[in-house]
Amino acid sequence: MTRRIGVGICGLGTVGSGTFNLLRANADEMIRKTGIRFDIAQVGCRRDHPDCDLSDVDVTRDIFDVVKNPGVDVVAELIGGIDVAFELVMAAIGNGKHVVTANKALIAERGEEIFAAATAAGVSVRYEAAVAGGIPVIKAVREGLAGNRIDFIAGIINGTGNFILTAMSEPGSNRAFAEVLKEAQELGYAEADPTFDVEGIDAAHKLAILSAIAFGTPIRFDAMYTEGISAVTPADIRYADQLGYCIKHLGITRRGEDGIELRVHPALIDKTSMLAQVNGVMNAVMVGSEPAGVTMYYGAGAGAGPTASAVVSDIVDVGRAPLAVPNLGFDADSIRSMPVLAIDQTRCCFYLKLTALDKAGVMARISSVLGQHNISIESLVQRDARAGHAPVVIVTDEVQESELDAAITELQALPEVEEKVTRIRIESL
Ligand code: HSE
Repeated sequence: MTRRIGVGICGLGTVGSGTFNLLRANADEMIRKTGIRFDIAQVGCRRDHPDCDLSDVDVTRDIFDVVKNPGVDVVAELIGGIDVAFELVMAAIGNGKHVVTANKALIAERGEEIFAAATAAGVSVRYEAAVAGGIPVIKAVREGLAGNRIDFIAGIINGTGNFILTAMSEPGSNRAFAEVLKEAQELGYAEADPTFDVEGIDAAHKLAILSAIAFGTPIRFDAMYTEGISAVTPADIRYADQLGYCIKHLGITRRGEDGIELRVHPALIDKTSMLAQVNGVMNAVMVGSEPAGVTMYYGAGAGAGPTASAVVSDIVDVGRAPLAVPNLGFDADSIRSMPVLAIDQTRCCFYLKLTALDKAGVMARISSVLGQHNISIESLVQRDARAGHAPVVIVTDEVQESELDAAITELQALPEVEEKVTRIRIESL
């Protein structure tokens, strides 16, 4: 016999409209799969969406009506932002409703309070759409790899940033950063405030969530190291290419003996690596675990359809078995804090670029500074010397970041070195 689950949709923007249309379009297929009719009981939105036929739907302009509606079993919070969304979700939980959200900022910054309230109220909070859009990576890590010990997660988890870096890396590309960003906004990929995309905050929200479900810790967005892509120049992309690398914006979390690494930053990766093949708005998440080994998940990380796919699959999960999986994938009583390593305690190889006077002895002085800090040089080359000045590109062996910082301070103090030294981490995943 077909059961009914009442769905309340709050927010009818890109994700809300995609969710509405998907629930309608695939209603019969979902009944076949689940035996459940997922009925849109009410939609709360400030204005109608031109792509949605709302003629036979209960529409309210007050989203808080939805969380009070007795016909709603699951509230889909798709309004974005933090403060009102938090109030809405807590009200839904308080009224005994399950919650599905696409809101990574909300989960990364207020998830602890939300999960505690949900556990106390005996309801579920699901957030697959918050990380990597249409890729079911939360489910993969939390459920598909439930028997594994996770060692690291690394990924390209912001579509807008990847879209921009890909466009800047195309052969002969001379597209300006702002122009490519505008295109990403028009395609509905970018956040309302696109600095969240280009400065890494969006990726940091997603990584904070992934790290918590990987290691069973509280969500530590507050401890994240975050660096954006706005300082990456066409010259860096070109030099990286000549060295056999491409530049990607990565989120990396890794469990080590002394604590967890939690960092978002641009990185040089080998052009032949799997993550280097992830282009445009696509996302990919690589998970290292034992005994499964390395697994990788690829797909569209943004846009109405892919994100709605994740929202609806959470609605299905909640309809089928609401409390089957703990919110963070670990029993609530066994979530444990682990120290998060400060970025200068992590170790990496580095790409350095500096502009130096093109005269005898300069390279020796640069090498000597690096040598004094025990930084071994894999390559050091001068490029495109012009009018007595030359960019110098250096690739180092692995070094602790605090040691590199000290060396860079000394390099910048050399009279022959002009401008700030550019440094980008090199990751071999
Ligand atoms: N602005 C985000 C991105 C949307 O570009 O990835 C999906 O979270």
